[in-house]
Amino acid sequence: LGPSTVAIGGLPKALGYFTFDPGFVATASCRSAITYIDGEEGVLLYRGYPIEQLAEQSTFLEVAYLLLYGELPTAEELAAFERSITNHTMINESLKSFFNGFHYDAHPMAMMCGVVGSLSAFYYNHTDINDPADRDLAAHRLIAKMPTIAAACYKHGKGEPFVYPDNRLSYTGNFLRMMFAIPSEPYEVDPVAERALDVLFILHADHEQNASTSTVRLAGSTGAHPYASVAAGIAALWGPAHGGANEAVLRMLEEIGHPDNIPKYIAKAKDKDDPFRLMGFGHRVYKNYDPRAKIIRRHCYEVLEKLGKRNEALLDLAMRLEEVALSDEYFIERKLYPNVDFYTGIIYKALGIPTNMFTVMFAIARTVGWVAHWLEMVSDPELRIGRPRQLYTGPARRDYVALDQRG
Ligand code: ACO
Repeated sequence: LGPSTVAIGGLPKALGYFTFDPGFVATASCRSAITYIDGEEGVLLYRGYPIEQLAEQSTFLEVAYLLLYGELPTAEELAAFERSITNHTMINESLKSFFNGFHYDAHPMAMMCGVVGSLSAFYYNHTDINDPADRDLAAHRLIAKMPTIAAACYKHGKGEPFVYPDNRLSYTGNFLRMMFAIPSEPYEVDPVAERALDVLFILHADHEQNASTSTVRLAGSTGAHPYASVAAGIAALWGPAHGGANEAVLRMLEEIGHPDNIPKYIAKAKDKDDPFRLMGFGHRVYKNYDPRAKIIRRHCYEVLEKLGKRNEALLDLAMRLEEVALSDEYFIERKLYPNVDFYTGIIYKALGIPTNMFTVMFAIARTVGWVAHWLEMVSDPELRIGRPRQLYTGPARRDYVALDQRG
């Protein structure tokens, strides 16, 4: 809106300049040097490096270093970073009492919100957000503890004892062991599963100002604690329009069940009177194939092959669904392509990860992006509290009416 007068509650009032942009389709909330997306061309760069090269050649912790500090690490820097992350994988024993308070069938994302938020109670007095060393420590702690907390959520749901971190293992190897090992029984990390997960984590590590990252920034802009800000990000990620889509995709594919049923679901997705949407399709920024989905699609095929699960019917169903949707006018006109979540669930399922843990997997990886943005924001001299405006549509000023005079 221009520098005009706009009726607010019936009263004309000068507003100066501000934009009305529901959903922030065209509003940049900050400057950022972390991630670049070209949605028309389907390009994604982390600190300038193409996502395809990082997925092929890098590791999740190296990418985490890159996102946090802006450059690829030297061998010594990487070793020091990995040591620091490894040092912080343990969680305080008293956190177990939080889990005891959750019913066994609580959704793991609900437990994650609570338990990660509670870290701010543990570290409140030891985190000075004006001290760069304390900020780094908070960032490292969050990245290190997320897999431990995530695996504990899973074990709690199964009623099995928690498996403590084994810091001789890689980030993803350690996570797989905490998820699937039974205490006192030997457990071998499968290198195929370990690398498959590492690649998925790289692809999910950051995606500029998505809903959850913007939430972390908004909460953090008030000076809120990093652990509390990340818990807010976890809550925002959970919705099916964002990170919750990976869980919704798998449930949708299972519901479709057979390629013969695809036309029925395509018709439902196109029907404006039906709230059903094709989950894992469409993206606010990508109006071309999501480059992450392209990598995951290929990766999915390779991983299933290596795990001896190539006959997984869901992959064929997903590929057929994609083919039908991409040749349909509705999807073509609206530039709706598969997004990052369309194929991830099939890989997670092949790795033995239950459907209700899919969004938790996303949260582990995205923690890197959240803390990278938090670090960038708190050291920005232009930082101001995030405080969107609104267009008021309620009643004009009116006088209170006593209870006995209403109705
Ligand atoms: N199925 C059917 N129609 C769709 C879909 C879909 N998956 N996505 C968008 N559309 C339609 C909308 O109905 C709308 O149609 P219209 O112009 O006739 O009204 C048009 O495409 C534009 O959609 P919007 O909702 O305006 O797009 P927006 O940018 O607000 O939403 C979103 C993007 C939330 C991702 C949306 O495409 C969606 O709901 N997709 C399914 C959920 C999903 O996969 N989310 C994961 C996103 S990736 C991530 O967060 C990691």
